[in-house]
Order: sequence, then structure tokens, then C-alpha cells
Amino acid sequence: LDNGLVRTPPMGWLAWERFRCNTDCKNDPENCISERLFRTMADLVVSEGYAAVGYEYINVDDCWLDKERGANGQLQPDYSRFPNGMRALSDYVHRLGLKFGIYEDYGNYTCAGYPGILGSLELDAQTFASWNVDYVKLDGCYSHPKDMDRGYPEFGYFLNKTGRQMVYSCSWPVYQIYAGIAPNFSSIIEHCNLWRNFDDIQDSWASVESVIDYYGDNQDAIIPNAGPGHWNDPDMLIIGNFGLSYEQSKTQMAIWAIIAAPLLMSVDLRTIRPEFKAILQNKGVIAVDQDPLGIQGRRIYKKSGIEIWSRPITPLQQNYFSYAVAFLNRRTDGTPSDVAVTLQELGLAYPGGYAVEDLFEEVSYGVLSPETKIKVKVNPSGVVILRANIHLPRFQSQNQKTVYD
Ligand code: DGJ
Repeated sequence: LDNGLVRTPPMGWLAWERFRCNTDCKNDPENCISERLFRTMADLVVSEGYAAVGYEYINVDDCWLDKERGANGQLQPDYSRFPNGMRALSDYVHRLGLKFGIYEDYGNYTCAGYPGILGSLELDAQTFASWNVDYVKLDGCYSHPKDMDRGYPEFGYFLNKTGRQMVYSCSWPVYQIYAGIAPNFSSIIEHCNLWRNFDDIQDSWASVESVIDYYGDNQDAIIPNAGPGHWNDPDMLIIGNFGLSYEQSKTQMAIWAIIAAPLLMSVDLRTIRPEFKAILQNKGVIAVDQDPLGIQGRRIYKKSGIEIWSRPITPLQQNYFSYAVAFLNRRTDGTPSDVAVTLQELGLAYPGGYAVEDLFEEVSYGVLSPETKIKVKVNPSGVVILRANIHLPRFQSQNQKTVYD
């Protein structure tokens, strides 16, 4: 969607995977879906340094609504959990310098059974605008997937008509794929800023692996749809929860950066351990994700449990790109695997060579020619992610931040 927003993939915090539909504020006041939870997470996004590295959206998901619309037909939150209403929460988030996202569903009900937008599209778009919402995720439960080709653009039309700029996140293709309908991606790209293609992520390595496989196996169809303002959404980052090891967490972060994914953390920022926080705040990996060219990367090698993924990034020189390259070890036989390959074999052929660094280890390999063989050791279910910057002659690189010259 060419609305000037999310020219690089959105970054922020999203409630769903970690906090689900916990509405029991009586017995679990600190973890229920409530004003208190979102204020707390917004505070921590700022105070714990996430905002400083780019995370900016605080996104509400399902289960914020009252079971009934208000007297005038307007959407209203469950006031026992959001006592000051959504405008006050939005104002709070904005006062912190962050942006506010909300959730609804193109159907009669949300997936958890709260009122959907069907029959009230224009009113609901106006309501969101009146709350100064910056981001709308529109789910697709309790609707007919064949109606979505008309319905998602129609709601987008009403969002636009409010005059307020809002990121539009769509679940349109995933529900159609499940229903056996081939999505019309040219229309989805035109009307949505991001969209889900595949299953909901769960708190497990198996789930992350299934997403990685989906994006690799379907890459020729998926990659051309991504670009500035319109992104494939492989779902939330689950780093820092219960299901992923340290190695697996680095793998999720690296692959999400390679595939130009939205970086929406779903984790309890009150209790996250420092090593997981460091992964989420790794500036080098975030810079790959946020590369201004917005080209989604691909799996270029897969054999005997080893995968190599690569993404073209800046800086450019003549017809040559720089690259981020991720080596994955999908084996679980307990021993790190050595991978040795020349840059040329990875498709890095710039005659002047590349300045290569390891983004998690923060070590530099120096400037390597395309013929140089690099050797990496990849831990089981882990990753090594390298950034290979085109080596620019000194006189051209004076204005660039590079440590190699
Ligand atoms: C399905 C979506 O795909 C999830 O991300 C989440 O929003 C749930 N619905 C909420 O019910």
C-alpha cells in the first residue's frame, strides 16, 4: 500500500503470542489484556532501549473489546480492563514517542468472539481515527474468504477516507489460502502494508521451523510481493519466551531479517533475560531487516541439514549489491557443523571485494575477494549471519560509516 508508511518493515511489540486472550484481570491483574499491560510494555520499550533501536508500535490484539457495541453502535473496549478507554491509552503511547496499533476482524466476530467490523466498516474506521490509531491489524475469522477481495479494500478505503495515516495489516491471503482460493497478490499489495501468508506462530522451535520452511519452499512466489510499503508477515518474534533456546532465538532473528519481516516482539519485557534482549536489540541484524532497498532475501542452498540464505542490501556499486548471508544448521546431532564456501559461490562477485563481519559475534573478517573461502561453525539449530559490504575505494567511502578502510 503506497500510503507513505512502513517504507521499511514495521517494528514494535504485539500482545498476542505471549498474552493471548487472558481477560482474567481479577486473578491475574499483571498479565491480563488491559490498559495496565500495554502501558507497562510501552514504558519498557522506551526505558529498556528497544525504542532507541527502532521498535515503535505498541499493538493491541484480540480480546480488548467489550462483547457488545456501545449505544450508538461504536466499538468500545471492555471498560473493566481499559477503564480510561482507547483514546487515553493511545495518548499515553504517543506521549512516550511511540505509535499505537489496534486489532479488529473482517467478519461478524473476532477469532475470540468479540464484535467484528462487518456492517460497520466506515464507523469503525472513523472510531479508530478518532482514537489516533496508527496501525490496524484486520483478522479474518467469521467471514467468507471469497468476500475478502472486496472487503479488505473497502475497509482500506474507509481508513484512507478518515484522513489519518494508518498502517494496514491484513490477514486476507492466509484465510484464502486455507480456503483453497489463490490470493490476488497485486490487489493485496495495492491495499495492504503487510499481510500474513501462513500459520500463527506458536512458542516452539517446530513452529519457527515451519515458518522458515514455508518462506523457503514458496520463495519464488512470495519474494516479488515484498518491497517498501508492502511486506510479507511471517508473524511475531517469540524470542525471550519459553520455547526457543538461545541458538534458536538467534536463528529466528536472523531469518526474519533476511526475509524483510516485520519485527513485532511478543514477549514479557518485564522478565526477559538479558541474552534474549540483546538478540532483539542487535543493531547489525536490525539494520539488515531495515535495509532501505527492501528486497526480501531467499534460501540459496539446502542440503544435509545445512541452509544458506542471502539478502541483497546496500551499499551498491555499479550492478553489484552488498549482502547479508545466514548459515543455518538444522541438524540436531549435537555437534556444530563447519561450512566452507567462497564468496563467489554465494553469488558475491564484486571484483573489489567485500568487507565481511559476523553480526552476532561482532567480529570482522576484513576485506575478502570473491575467490576467498570463508569458513563458519554453525551450532545445532543455530545460525551465523554475516554482512558483506561492497568494498568501496577510500575516496568514495568517506561519508559512509565503515570500519574497514
Ligand atoms: C488469528 C491471528 O492470526 C493471530 O495473530 C491472532 O490475532 C488471533 N487470530 C487472535 O484471535
